[in-house]
This record gives sequence, structure tokens and C-alpha cells, in this order.
Amino acid sequence: MRDLHWTDLPELAALEAELFPDDAWAPETWWAELAGRPRRSYVVQEQDGRVVGYAGVDLGGEVADVMTMAVAPSAQAQGLGRRLLDELVARAQADHAAYLILEVREDNAPARKLYDTRGFELLTVRRRYYQPGDVDAHVMRLTLAGGAS
Ligand SMILES: CC(C)(COP(=O)(O)OP(=O)(O)OC[C@H]1O[C@@H](n2cnc3c(N)ncnc32)[C@H](O)[C@@H]1OP(=O)(O)O)[C@@H](O)C(=O)NCCC(=O)NCCS
Repeated sequence: MRDLHWTDLPELAALEAELFPDDAWAPETWWAELAGRPRRSYVVQEQDGRVVGYAGVDLGGEVADVMTMAVAPSAQAQGLGRRLLDELVARAQADHAAYLILEVREDNAPARKLYDTRGFELLTVRRRYYQPGDVDAHVMRLTLAGGAS
């Protein structure tokens, strides 16, 4: 696992289109996220020289925010998602955040299971947040040890 580099962006664009067909991030969004460092902190996971997973977190306050997280279909169910999430938790903790929050689609069972088992709690539900499709967003929160509050 290593920090995201701008040379990874073409690979990320291909993965985004596959994993988030309704709301893939545009290249401009990725460039803005890279420009947002160190507040924005991104990590990628490689296998055989190819990026197979990536995740990012917004740091800098009491509440850290998961920006995105994804694992290539060919590399799913091997523990990479959990490793990426653990890395975001570690980065938020190192930044002295008290909480790590995220939003997840109500119909995304694999991701919700991952967050549940990692200790995230349901904070609130944003009704019909994801469009198109009228899908609710579950806002989840993990309380971090050693946070500032
Ligand atoms: C969610 C995602 C990142 C999980 O990545 P992954 O590498 O497959 O996850 P892991 O192998 O680390 O599994 C971790 C846990 O997730 C849950 N999980 C993973 N795949 C699952 C599935 N198909 N069904 C149910 N639970 C699943 C399990 O709790 C699993 O723990 P376990 O193996 O001890 O049961 C991956 O499915 C993904 O990229 N999905 C598409 C993009 C996405 O939805 N991102 C999250 C947006 S909020």
C-alpha cells in the first residue's frame, strides 16, 4: 500500500467507470483531490504492478471523512477493502480526529457489512440521497480512540 500519485489517475479512471457507473469521479475531481493534499489523503493498493484498490480521507478536524473507497472486482473478497479502511482509520487517528464518518448506499450490502464489522454505527439516514434511483444514504460514524474531543 502506498500514497496515490498523479500517474495513477488513468488507472483510477478506468476502475471508477467500472465500480461507480452512476457517479464516477471526473479527472478534474481527481486533480482537485490531489491538489487538496495534505488535508486530503489517498492510498492505493497494488497487485502485480497494477492498482487494484484505492481509498481517501479528508483530514484536518475533529471529524474525518471517508471520500471514497473501492477495490477492483477481480481483487474483491481478499481482505483488501478491510486493509484500505484500516489505513484510513490509522491516518485519521494520527491526525487526532475524534470521529471518522462516511456515507454508503443503503443497497450496498458488501460495503455496509465491512463498515458494520469495523465498528461503524449508523448516525442518520439521508432519504433518496443518491440520484438517479432514489436510494437512501446511510451516514455512519466510527469513534476513534485518542481523538481530540
Ligand atoms: C466495498 C468493497 C470496497 C469491499 O472490498 P473487498 O476488498 O471486497 O472487502 P474485503 O475482502 O476486505 O472484505 C471485508 C468485509 O466486507 C464484507 N464483504 C465484502 N464483500 C462482501 C460481499 N460480497 N457480501 C457481503 N459482505 C461482503 C465482509 O464483512 C468482509 O469481511 P469478511 O470477509 O470477514 O466477512 C468492494 O466491494 C468495492 O469496491 N465495492 C464497489 C465500490 C464500493 O461500493 N465502494 C464503497 C463505497 S461506500
